[in-house]
Amino acid sequence: MPFRIAQIRLVSSHPEVYEPCDDSFALVDALLADRINLVKHQPALCMEVGCGSGYVITSLALILESGSVGAQYLATDINPHAVRVTQETLEAHGVHAELISTNIASGLEQRLTGMIDVMVVNPPYVPTPEDEVGCEGIVSAWAGGENGRSVIDKILPIADNLLSEKGWLYMVTLAANSPLQICLKMREKGYASRIVLQRSTEEESLHIIKFWRDADI
Ligand SMILES: C[S@@+](CC[C@H](N)C(=O)[O-])C[C@H]1O[C@@H](n2cnc3c(N)ncnc32)[C@H](O)[C@@H]1O
Repeated sequence: MPFRIAQIRLVSSHPEVYEPCDDSFALVDALLADRINLVKHQPALCMEVGCGSGYVITSLALILESGSVGAQYLATDINPHAVRVTQETLEAHGVHAELISTNIASGLEQRLTGMIDVMVVNPPYVPTPEDEVGCEGIVSAWAGGENGRSVIDKILPIADNLLSEKGWLYMVTLAANSPLQICLKMREKGYASRIVLQRSTEEESLHIIKFWRDADI
């Protein structure tokens, strides 16, 4: 079956919600590049942390649906407007996800421990003053605090807790976030990693890293 991703003309918007941008496109391109493995992986439960407009979780659902994978989807965002916009984007593409407005996965950890087979995250990664992190509205879309790592460093242990034994994590990082250091941090938790896509734009150098548990580590 030919694969589909979310169509920009069907992606909903709101002035306080992050519009799909180079980083969102790079993450979906990385999922597309890995789509044969994703279909073989047969995930039962997929999750996005920080869904924004819904472009990424909708694309993931469409990619897996094209491969006849009947997974379930869940997405969170700290910005309640983003949850509403994601709902509209999903509906416009005829796909479904459970949506929750929360800080990373707060309130869900007990229910989801060891359950997530694929997690996708395009976090706020821009180095900013620490007091901008977690601000209301659009600022929380990019404000990453010192080295852009404040939210990333909170997401990593939560991802470790939520991922299943076969779970995969795809995460966007910026060169300024020290992706190698992030990989070493995850290695200490038993994860192997690979940069599945690297893209330089006029403004930034993006890496999409894939993590998976490796019994040999
Ligand atoms: C760079 S945007 C990415 C949006 C979308 N995933 C995309 O790729 O277009 C980061 C998103 O993470 C959300 N976010 C920021 N901090 C968060 C947190 N602590 N918990 C959940 N979501 C968060 C923001 O509201 C924003 O929608």
